[in-house]
Amino acid sequence: MIVLKSQREIEKMKKAGELLAEVHQQLSQLIVPGITTWEIDQFVESFLKKHGATPEQKGYKGYEYATCASINDEICHGFPRKKPLNEGDIVTIDMVVNLDGGLADSAWSYAVGNISDENKKLLEVTEKALYLGIEQAVAGNRVGDIGHAIQSYVEENGFSVVRDFIGHGIGAAMHEKPDIPHYGQAGKGIRLKEGMVFTIEPMVNVGAYQSKMDNNGWTARTVDGSRSAQYEHTIAILKDGPVILTEQKKKG
Ligand code: MF3
Ligand code: CO
Repeated sequence: MIVLKSQREIEKMKKAGELLAEVHQQLSQLIVPGITTWEIDQFVESFLKKHGATPEQKGYKGYEYATCASINDEICHGFPRKKPLNEGDIVTIDMVVNLDGGLADSAWSYAVGNISDENKKLLEVTEKALYLGIEQAVAGNRVGDIGHAIQSYVEENGFSVVRDFIGHGIGAAMHEKPDIPHYGQAGKGIRLKEGMVFTIEPMVNVGAYQSKMDNNGWTARTVDGSRSAQYEHTIAILKDGPVILTEQKKKG
């Protein structure tokens, strides 16, 4: 069942989203060679606490951290750990913020110091793919229009789209209907309606799209060891088009 959200519920989620966006803007300054994802996780948890919010992922199905921190060939759900990040790494920090019962979900990939040209292209293509998906998230379109826009752009650029993890509705719960695959055919799937709130969160690999699971039962990584990036926003479908609830303020 897809729960449509009221204007008031969307406003509440937007407040959570604004705080989450602020966290990511802080992280873009904080993430430098030598920092650990453990320290990043601690920073996020205390920042949220200071602002009256909580990390919704902590305790979710036994998950122990405020954030997921996925390094290099890790696709998603990496554990924060005490190993320093190295120059040239890429790291994706994903979190769900709960502010007064309003939820918002956003992941962002960061370069650690200087990264290779191929890695720069991976980050650029993945971020652009997210925004091309968002453009299609308008009432009357179908869910396949989102996946198709993302997949065709990513593949034109020689990368691949992860199939095993998809976007999701979000509201009272972190994961709701509808499912939002980042691949698919234009004109196919459920029709998008005003009041839907969901994530679009493409994970893009340099090599093959397939993933394998670590022994910890959480962390997914690429089968071929190639690198993976991810950008995620929570969006609401309004009459005039999609509104990004987790949008970061432009710098400058
Ligand atoms: N934020 C993730 C998503 O985009 C969910 C992480 S799973 C958790 O769906 F257990 F770590 F919360
Ligand atoms: Co997320």
